[in-house]
Amino acid sequence: MMTDRRLTVHRDGKPIYDIVLSGSFAELAEEVKKLDIGGRRICIVTDSTVAELYLETVSSILAGCCSTLISFVFPAGEEHKNLDTVRSLYRHLIVNRFDRKDMLAALGGGVVGDLCGYAAATYLRGISFIQIPTTLLSQVDSSIGGKTGVDFDSYKNMVGAFHMPSLVYTNVSTLKTLPPEQYSSGMGEIIKHGLIRDRDYYRWLYENREQIRQRDAGACLTMIGRSDEIKRQVVENDPTEQGERALLNFGHTLGHAIEKLAEFTIPHGHCVGLGLLAAAEISRRRGWIRGEDLMQLQTVLREYDMPVSVSGLKPASILAATKNDKKMDSGRIRFILLRSIGDAVIDRTVTEKEMEDALNTILM
Ligand SMILES: NC(=O)c1ccc[n+]([C@@H]2O[C@H](COP(=O)([O-])OP(=O)(O)OC[C@H]3O[C@@H](n4cnc5c(N)ncnc54)[C@H](O)[C@@H]3O)[C@@H](O)[C@H]2O)c1
Ligand SMILES: [Zn+2]
Repeated sequence: MMTDRRLTVHRDGKPIYDIVLSGSFAELAEEVKKLDIGGRRICIVTDSTVAELYLETVSSILAGCCSTLISFVFPAGEEHKNLDTVRSLYRHLIVNRFDRKDMLAALGGGVVGDLCGYAAATYLRGISFIQIPTTLLSQVDSSIGGKTGVDFDSYKNMVGAFHMPSLVYTNVSTLKTLPPEQYSSGMGEIIKHGLIRDRDYYRWLYENREQIRQRDAGACLTMIGRSDEIKRQVVENDPTEQGERALLNFGHTLGHAIEKLAEFTIPHGHCVGLGLLAAAEISRRRGWIRGEDLMQLQTVLREYDMPVSVSGLKPASILAATKNDKKMDSGRIRFILLRSIGDAVIDRTVTEKEMEDALNTILM
């Protein structure tokens, strides 16, 4: 499988930004210089963990691309993806006299990307920003598509805006320092991409599991390239989630409910994996996919160190939790099912009984 090292994301047929994939930070300066930021300021926004690992390198590169470079570091963790952190960032930008033509650079995972993107969307009614994603999840999912936002009290992603980055620069070698659980969590979204859109890619993910598990740079570039291409296509066809973009929610209706009930102790991608299994089970019971497809999915998830069952949860509480989910469409759940491997569809007819039966196959 061959994939491109540069993807251009369009909107209404016009190019909006490039996603550049690399095995290093070597081309970052050149890419940022194309954004015409020479005489302007850049603020790198990152978290405490990523700052230790990559802030110095990225600062020295970006310092050569602008007139003033500053940084803003906040403590790592979802609990800091909130308006308090955004407020400190606004203050930092004001003190440093950032104006409309200056730019933010999100260096980190989805937490940094979402928060930095939201600050960029709202500071002075919107300034530009770039994404330098460093987790697998952010490289294949959150850095693309322009969704930004923060949590509010206990509500996830409750406050946000659509705001497109000017560049997404992915250096896959940053994956080398990612904790195993985070890597495996990102695989949940990647397996999802294969299942909804590309049977050959799904098969490739299984066949190349050794290199992928070792985070081999070549395999990661190919994999992230294909996943980004799938997400790009879906997002371009439906930028504000009126229809097709909902396919990306495959595995998420039940996955989110499990994630919430487990009080966020199970990584997001692992919950998605469980949700994929339950949705695949519903598809199997409808006669759309085969029993062996389902077994194959279990094997793939296991190969990537993802759970295939969860204990301590009841079907009824999971069903109750799905009702508060945003994927509801005038009272009916917009469920994503598999017509076949590599072909997902939106379905509004899934019953509670179907969900319950499927949940019983993943609950211990
Ligand atoms: N905007 C979107 O479309 C979208 C899509 C999916 C998820 N999200 C959001 O993304 C967030 C989750 O993102 P995430 O999984 O990247 O989590 P994260 O940003 O919290 O990163 C996970 C952990 O890994 C650390 N880390 C990051 N890069 C590292 C590296 N290269 N080496 C070592 N450690 C590293 C971080 O400091 C953090 O502790 C959630 O808030 C979710 O809501 C957004
Ligand atoms: Zn997800």
